[in-house]
Formats: sequence, structure tokens, C-alpha cells
Amino acid sequence: MILKKVCMVGDFGVGKTSLVRRFLDQQFSDHYLSTIGVKISRKLLSVSSQEAIARQIQLMIWDIEGETQFQPIIPSYLEGASGAIIVADLNRLETIEHIPKHIELVCSVNPKGISCIIALNKLDILKKEGYTDVLESIASLQTHPQVVQMFQTSAKTGEQVEVMFQTLAQSLFKNH
Ligand code: GTP
Ligand code: MG
Repeated sequence: MILKKVCMVGDFGVGKTSLVRRFLDQQFSDHYLSTIGVKISRKLLSVSSQEAIARQIQLMIWDIEGETQFQPIIPSYLEGASGAIIVADLNRLETIEHIPKHIELVCSVNPKGISCIIALNKLDILKKEGYTDVLESIASLQTHPQVVQMFQTSAKTGEQVEVMFQTLAQSLFKNH
């Protein structure tokens, strides 16, 4: 069995904790309880290998507090991570604009390489009129060499949450 550390990264309130909760417990709450420091959970997943034999991978998910200002503690939480889910809120443009900064940080702490997934969350409350602008502003992010894939998710409805974590696990397994 392979053990891999994965970090949830992004601005405050974008839904990092809610995505983890949806993935682990199939639950969601509208109540906002800001994460202080980091909360670590585990999840055992099956991924298919080249020989088509399912292999197990244990994800250690580090749900890190959102940055409100420069917090010198955050780089130390990112150390030793093989993967990261960079989360933004589709309805708060500044959280999307901060994605490159978060990617830069996780890459600089893990110079040997890290698989990044971008989660554009809160798809369920997306205000349709601003949608095209949002998509234009994020299109270029997908070309980043460390970015595996981008998903539009909802922790509330569960849309794309399972497949996102599975895609990350598959990528970690491949790079193992
Ligand atoms: P910090 O720990 O402070 O960095 O925040 P976080 O990124 O962990 O955000 P959290 O998961 O605590 O969610 C913040 C708020 O957004 C909560 O009120 C959640 O209920 C809400 N929320 C999270 N994801 C979604 C979503 O997909 N849809 C909707 N409608 N609300 C969401
Ligand atoms: Mg949180």
C-alpha cells in the first residue's frame, strides 16, 4: 500500500473543509466553521494499475486553514506533500485570481514535483451572468506543468467531488 500526503490549499471560506467532508462522509453543512491550523484525515482508495489490478492508496488529507494574510506557518504544513487541491470559489473572483500564488507556494515547498488539481467550488450557487468572465480568467491556469486537471465542484451537491479525489489519487499512483 502507498501512503501519500495531499494538501487542501486556498483562500479562506472557499470550501476546502466542505470538500473533504463531502468526500469522507458524504455530508455537507451550511454552517461555516473556519479551520484553525490544520486537520488531518485519512482515506483508503483503490486505483487501477497498468496490470489492471486494483491497488490501494492511503491519502493523508491535510485540510489547511485559508490564508487571510501572510501566514508563515503554512509552508511548513505543505512540506512532503505529493499532491494538492487548490480550491477557489467560483463566485469570488479574487479567490480564483489567487490560484497561481497558491500553486507557486506548493511548488516552491516541494521542488521535486507535486500533482496539483484545481477545484472551482460552489458551482451550485454560481451566478450565471459572470460565468464567461470567470472561465476566461482561469483558462490559462490549465497549462501549468504541475496542474493535472481542473474541476468545477460543489461540496453541497457532491458534483465532481469523488471523481476529483480519484483523479488525484490516480495521478499520485502513476508518479509513484
Ligand atoms: P477556511 O477553513 O476558513 O479556510 O474555509 P474553508 O475553505 O475550509 O471553507 P468551508 O469548507 O469551511 O466553507 C465555507 C462556507 O462555504 C461554509 O458556510 C460552507 O457551507 C460553504 N460552502 C462550501 N462549499 C460549498 C459549496 O459547494 N456550495 C455552497 N453553496 N456552499 C459551500
Ligand atoms: Mg476549512
